[in-house]
Amino acid sequence: MITIVGSGKVGGAAALFTALRKLSDEILLLDVVQGLPQGEAMDLNHMLSEKGIDVNIRGSNDYSEMKGSDIVVVVAGSGRKLGMTRMDLLKINASIVKGVVENIKKYAKDSMIIPVTNPLDPMVYLTYKVSGFQKNRVFGMGGMLDLSRFMQFIHQATGFSRDSIRALVIGEHGENMLPLARYSTVSGIQLTSLLSKQKLDEIVQDTRHVASKVIELKGATVHAPGNAISAIIKAVVRDTKQVIPVATYLDGEYGYSDVTIGVPAVIGKGGVEKIIELDLDSKEKELFKKGIESVKTAISDLEL
Ligand code: LAC
Repeated sequence: MITIVGSGKVGGAAALFTALRKLSDEILLLDVVQGLPQGEAMDLNHMLSEKGIDVNIRGSNDYSEMKGSDIVVVVAGSGRKLGMTRMDLLKINASIVKGVVENIKKYAKDSMIIPVTNPLDPMVYLTYKVSGFQKNRVFGMGGMLDLSRFMQFIHQATGFSRDSIRALVIGEHGENMLPLARYSTVSGIQLTSLLSKQKLDEIVQDTRHVASKVIELKGATVHAPGNAISAIIKAVVRDTKQVIPVATYLDGEYGYSDVTIGVPAVIGKGGVEKIIELDLDSKEKELFKKGIESVKTAISDLEL
């Protein structure tokens, strides 16, 4: 069973994409708001019935119903408002996520946890520490969403099919995110040989800031995060061994320890099965380090 804690727009979208991909026979939507998960589940089940998809979605306000979950997605918490950074949500969301993780520990102690709540990287650290789970079972969704955006900008800049584009974004899911043009391709052709440095710099910046633009225009990001969550779930439940950037605990990788941040990892039934260390150039290392420092500062404010 897959549980999604937080039945707002992103949680509902994650359930939708997960059900459409038929990744589980059962999906549980949880929320503290009375009626919200139940209503979301009903709406989704109506859609699934017309499509003939036998994935049953339940909604509940009772944490004990997550018993036996294989995967628990944590979306609960406040979203950014216009003008806020993800890091601005640290204090308010830390207490929410801590309470959720304590319930996961109590009712779904054998599950894998996919944090999504912002600020993502510090929330992954909090989840790892509070749950006490092995580090391979805690991995946050951030880079998968960032690369979705980087891919769109590459598609727009080149005019080439989205199906030919492979992109990579690592580091902090925030102001210091690191879209890697050197590790992005179009049918194996390095992006750096297809676009000018000026254009590459432009789409890297666009990738960093586009979420704020979506929030300004429609109030929240919904479909892209929902899809990215379900894409990670797919890698686990189908044991695909896909290489996906996830926020996970570093224990010496990239030269850093006791911190959680987005890195390329092999994702399969064992969760984070292997962290892949890239050969970063000096500029990439510098930005990656800025992300590490930003996350470490946030972690120190968590008072764990
Ligand atoms: C975003 C949020 C989920 O980037 O951090 O849309």
